[in-house]
Amino acid sequence: MTDDVANLPFGIDFGGTGIKGAPVDLATGEFAQERVRIKTPEKSTPENVAEVLAELVGQFPKSSAPVGITVPGVVRHGVVGSAANIDQSWIGTDADRLFTRALGRDVHVVNDADAAGLAEVTYGAAKGRRGLVILTTLGTGIGSAFLYDGVLTPNSELGHLEIDGHDAEARAANSARESEGLSMEKWAHRLTTYYRTLEKLFSPDLFVVGGGISKRSDEFLPLVDIDTEIVPAQLRNQAGVVGAALYASA
Ligand code: BGC
Repeated sequence: MTDDVANLPFGIDFGGTGIKGAPVDLATGEFAQERVRIKTPEKSTPENVAEVLAELVGQFPKSSAPVGITVPGVVRHGVVGSAANIDQSWIGTDADRLFTRALGRDVHVVNDADAAGLAEVTYGAAKGRRGLVILTTLGTGIGSAFLYDGVLTPNSELGHLEIDGHDAEARAANSARESEGLSMEKWAHRLTTYYRTLEKLFSPDLFVVGGGISKRSDEFLPLVDIDTEIVPAQLRNQAGVVGAALYASA
């Protein structure tokens, strides 16, 4: 390993089941070293997560390069503002400050879907696309990134639109497909309702669909009946780590 790796920004993706991190080469959008994954603590409070982050970063060479960390909630100026699928104690936590202290490094926290959007617009499915691109991640919840001419408007939270009297993600996230045992056809029907609502409200030029299930996009995207172009994300499960590193170094 060269000294150069220690100078690269470090990205961390904090998810419901795993916390993954790696230094990222921003010239290529690739991991500069193999990523490390640690199980998310059962009770994923900010303090418990901070401990795991320190353990994870400790497995890499000492560095003073900035660290970007994704959080599955609203993040304003480093402070977490919502916690739909994580411990409620995140709300109001100054995560930038807590993690900067825990890691002894300059830390910048970013919403998980916003990080994925930054990664896709820089290296992936939205690269070079002008106009409005809406990236959605279909996972435990639905995350969204709103990108106009490549510029992110953070915290769009389009998973929480109310559609037919329901919080959209409760019906259309991948977790709803799994917990209700929906066929791809039935789920695609719900996704059609979801994306048609987004079309009506925002008239985007492109939808990009991320989240773990996007690797099976050929099983459901062709069944989503909308007018706007809709494509799978390209960075797959690397998008969070890469986008977090991008965010930290901006
Ligand atoms: C949260 C978002 C997050 C998304 C995906 C939603 O429930 O409100 O902030 O981006 O889940 O994790």
